[in-house]
Amino acid sequence: MVILESVCQSLRRSLDSGRSQAQGTREKNGVPMPSDSGGAMAINLKINGMQRSVPAEPDTPLLYVLRNDLELNGAKFGCGLAQCGACTVLVDGRQVRSCITEVGSIGESEVTTIEGLGTVEKPHPLQQAFMDEEAAQCGYCINGMVMAAKDLLDRNPRPTEQDVREGLASNLCRCGTHGRIIRAVLRAAQSIGKT
Ligand code: FES
Ligand code: FES
Repeated sequence: MVILESVCQSLRRSLDSGRSQAQGTREKNGVPMPSDSGGAMAINLKINGMQRSVPAEPDTPLLYVLRNDLELNGAKFGCGLAQCGACTVLVDGRQVRSCITEVGSIGESEVTTIEGLGTVEKPHPLQQAFMDEEAAQCGYCINGMVMAAKDLLDRNPRPTEQDVREGLASNLCRCGTHGRIIRAVLRAAQSIGKT
């Protein structure tokens, strides 16, 4: 599993790097960098319960700010086109694709990333359930899956399997661990229901 994870990460890095080079953009920390930061202004954000300020142009994708400026690397750069869900975070409790969310649109809203959900010592029930079900193969999609599942369970604490299938349908997993992911979300729902 460790080998697979490392292979997948290398593939992803090389794909992203190739895409950036093809587009003539620089890259930092796995996501493209704007070619010119001349229009940057201080943008204040509430993230994981903390107030943060970053210099950024308002139309910069939230994902770039999270990863490049705030070192919150849980949200991943997958497609950059709102089509895979790897970059999913919560804004005021609702899932958004941070790759297409302009940081200037956040305003006073609260952003929650996977780093704000739980800790190694005290994982969120969803994180615990994903570990218990061994839902990750390469792991690239998993943080986005967990954040999408958090939104789902907050709206529907007792989902059926079909609810989970539909709720996570637009989050893609190239490794095909969907069965384990669905079981993990149902397990988390049970666990949360008991607490
Ligand atoms: S990277 Fe945002 S949806 Fe794929
Ligand atoms: S576990 Fe590899 S993409 Fe989902």
